[in-house]
Amino acid sequence: MTAGMAAFAGQVVRWQRTHGRNGLPWQGGRDPYPVWLSEVMLQQTQVSVVLDYFPRFLERFPDVAALARASADEVMSLWSGLGYYSRARNLHRCAQQVVASHGGRFPRTAVELQALPGIGRSTAAAIASFCFGERVAILDGNVKRVLARVLGFARDLASSASERELWAHAQALLPAASAGKSMPAYTQGLMDLGATVCTARNPQCLLCPVNDLCVARKEGRAQDYPVKTRKLKRTAQSLWLLHAQSAQGAVWLEKRPDTGIWAGLYCLPVFESRDDLASVLPQKARSRLRDDPCFLHVLTHKDLYLHPVAAELESSGLRKIQGRWFDAAQWPGLGLPAPIRKLLSA
Ligand code: ADE
Repeated sequence: MTAGMAAFAGQVVRWQRTHGRNGLPWQGGRDPYPVWLSEVMLQQTQVSVVLDYFPRFLERFPDVAALARASADEVMSLWSGLGYYSRARNLHRCAQQVVASHGGRFPRTAVELQALPGIGRSTAAAIASFCFGERVAILDGNVKRVLARVLGFARDLASSASERELWAHAQALLPAASAGKSMPAYTQGLMDLGATVCTARNPQCLLCPVNDLCVARKEGRAQDYPVKTRKLKRTAQSLWLLHAQSAQGAVWLEKRPDTGIWAGLYCLPVFESRDDLASVLPQKARSRLRDDPCFLHVLTHKDLYLHPVAAELESSGLRKIQGRWFDAAQWPGLGLPAPIRKLLSA
């Protein structure tokens, strides 16, 4: 056990039961399917947004077999707007693998869960501790911050050796094996602390159930943890979107390649310059283009400046690029990037 931290797990568990997030629709059950679904959604998305998507997903795909049977297009369409679309592709693959290799039942240990597509070490541990009470540590971004502060862990988390060391601390801090039923509350408590009290900015140390143990607080330096030197370098890019419409009001959409931005989604054709965009159009349409207002779309590593260019086309369509016409009635059923969906409905 990490020195002086014997009380840590118990204090987290007691706090979670009264002050943590309880009663969310994916909590409290033993069925790994809804827990897995919610954990994948929550990886990069706030609870308030997941509360909107989760029930729709569960209604359409009530169990893992239903999800495995669905088309990739339908899964992408229901995911549309949640972002980080590789999560949706892995979700679908994972469901198919659970059916093909595990007889339609999720495996019951973190080690086996982690072998499935889209389930990393921390997500596997979250599912195994919530559903099966396994004594196994999570360590997502929020929990790294909580533990680094409590322990005064000053090593640089950009290095994989120090990250491994923090994993070992996380494992050492778990509730004792004798506290058998407390794993779900402990795991949820760490997540809740990171999200609501031990926040990146302005942590609420006075409200923290482990403030008496916290090294960072004793040092008056909560803000200095976690230490992470490798900063994301943000870039900016302009892209031109061909908003081609037929006389009947259909819009030309192409399916994006399987890698890169908006992979696998339907999208207006994307170009790196306005000239490239114009070059795929027949001469007649080129002279009647309309430049609509540019808008900013913020991705994790990149600011995208999107320039929609509207064109009226014959219904015969575009021969130089992929794609086809889609009527307005078809748009809701397609996996479209959120900014494109907004643009089409404007
Ligand atoms: N983030 C990841 N998993 C979560 C959970 N179970 N509750 C709240 N936030 C989370």
